[in-house]
Amino acid sequence: MGKVVVVGSIGGDVVATTETHPRPGETVVGSTVGFFPGGKGANQAAGAARAGAATEMIGRIGADAAGMEQRRFLGSFGVDCGGIVTDPTLPTQTAIIVLDASGENTIVVVAGASGVVTSEDATQMALTAGDVVVCQFEIPQPAVAAAFGHARDSGATTVLNLAPAATPLPGLLALVDVLVVNETEAGFLLGRSLAPDAAVDEVVAAAREIRAADRQTVIVTLGARGAVAITRDEVVVSEGHVVNVVDTTGAGDCFVGYLAHGLATGVPMRGAMETANHAASLCVQRMGAGTSMPAAHEVEQAVVASASTQ
Ligand code: RIB
Repeated sequence: MGKVVVVGSIGGDVVATTETHPRPGETVVGSTVGFFPGGKGANQAAGAARAGAATEMIGRIGADAAGMEQRRFLGSFGVDCGGIVTDPTLPTQTAIIVLDASGENTIVVVAGASGVVTSEDATQMALTAGDVVVCQFEIPQPAVAAAFGHARDSGATTVLNLAPAATPLPGLLALVDVLVVNETEAGFLLGRSLAPDAAVDEVVAAAREIRAADRQTVIVTLGARGAVAITRDEVVVSEGHVVNVVDTTGAGDCFVGYLAHGLATGVPMRGAMETANHAASLCVQRMGAGTSMPAAHEVEQAVVASASTQ
């Protein structure tokens, strides 16, 4: 069984809840404010560790209380934090999140130390074939490219969650074995929007258009509708699950973390996606990002309960 190495952002989330999102120029009254561990990279590491993977986190935090708290939190989930650099000049990443009554969010991320993760930071880990290296776009793309180049040299599998959406550096997508995007990010890559209710055939066609090479797997996550993947050999449709949504923040990260664990343990794509989908459906039923990653036994219970109703 391989390990999961997440090279990515680490931060704190400030979450305000409100009935509806304010429009530009509008003030709305909120109900609560909460502080949660976050950062897409750290969330994905937390998810992989909760799934049961030996997990390493590589990234940067500031020399501040928020950074110390993120390091403590990841450590409490069993994540190896030896690859986290404390940046002497910049604060820990902060995300300002507004959450409406339906659980949908808007997020503004201020990268701080995550914005200066270097290629040296990103290539410090020892890798072997069977390991899985996961990145997102909340750290500089040269660091992502360096991490994936190192992974390729070592025979490790590379997973890119292209979030937040940004134009990839030339050659970067060619280093990706598994690309994970949501409908918005898929639309960004295609240069046209992909409707949230797009038919599966349309999503599959979009994934084929995005795919950089025949050997690459492209997964499009569809929120409550589940996820669709094209692999070298097959199309995988993994249905979503109807649950009581409290907070969608971190659900995509939970999917990626669980998926990475599945790939590191040799689970075929269909099974890895099914488990990741169940995990994400548990994540959205809780407040916060990092803290709402479900434990493996909770996901197993959800899988069994779902199978018994079919
Ligand atoms: O994907 C959700 C995450 O994005 C939040 O936890 C926030 O930190 C932002 O980085």
